[in-house]
Amino acid sequence: MEERYVLASHNAAKLREMRQILGELGIRVLSQEEAGVDVEPEETGTTFEENAVIKAVAVMEASGLPALADDSGLAVDALGGAPGVYSARYGGGHDRSDGERNALLLKNMEQEEQRAAKFVSVIAVAYPDGRVLTARGEVRGEIAREERGENGFGYDPLFRLPDGRHMAELTSEEKNAVSHRGNALRELKRILTEQRKA
Ligand code: IMP
Repeated sequence: MEERYVLASHNAAKLREMRQILGELGIRVLSQEEAGVDVEPEETGTTFEENAVIKAVAVMEASGLPALADDSGLAVDALGGAPGVYSARYGGGHDRSDGERNALLLKNMEQEEQRAAKFVSVIAVAYPDGRVLTARGEVRGEIAREERGENGFGYDPLFRLPDGRHMAELTSEEKNAVSHRGNALRELKRILTEQRKA
């Protein structure tokens, strides 16, 4: 029988990515709307894992179906891993624009020679029988001194990959092939495949 998982997100791009990769395992990914659940759990965790699990468990409990959630962000070495789980709220609140958050990051990195950073994504799956699993993906790069590229979102214009391109210069297919979220999804696919063999 086809398995159905609900995605704890209102982001259409994430839904598309999850559908594509998990569809290869015969899993049908439903949006919250399709599953008839409307929950917005507060992300009170201090790690990506905790926040992903909070969201997946809340949607699993509301829908009675296995649920998937992801939590992601940018971790800058010289800033002790900031903005980290607070990436969407960097500088306080959700109402700043991506451009304002990028400007703040550039300012906070002005005096820093050490520019290493990584994007992190953790995907959690929560099952009605209480099992929870998580898959983590990362991509390493550097914080550039100026923005470049028009694609992607968030910190992509400032994130320079080892090949010199900024993340915002990649097409969405190129980004999926190297990104933290793509890597976490591929890791999740590997875990689910192993689980089926066991
Ligand atoms: P969320 O997990 O969708 O809540 O994302 C958290 C925040 O991390 C976003 O608002 C962005 O600021 C940042 N972020 C996560 N993934 C990416 C990405 O692929 N590119 C750029 N910024 C990202």
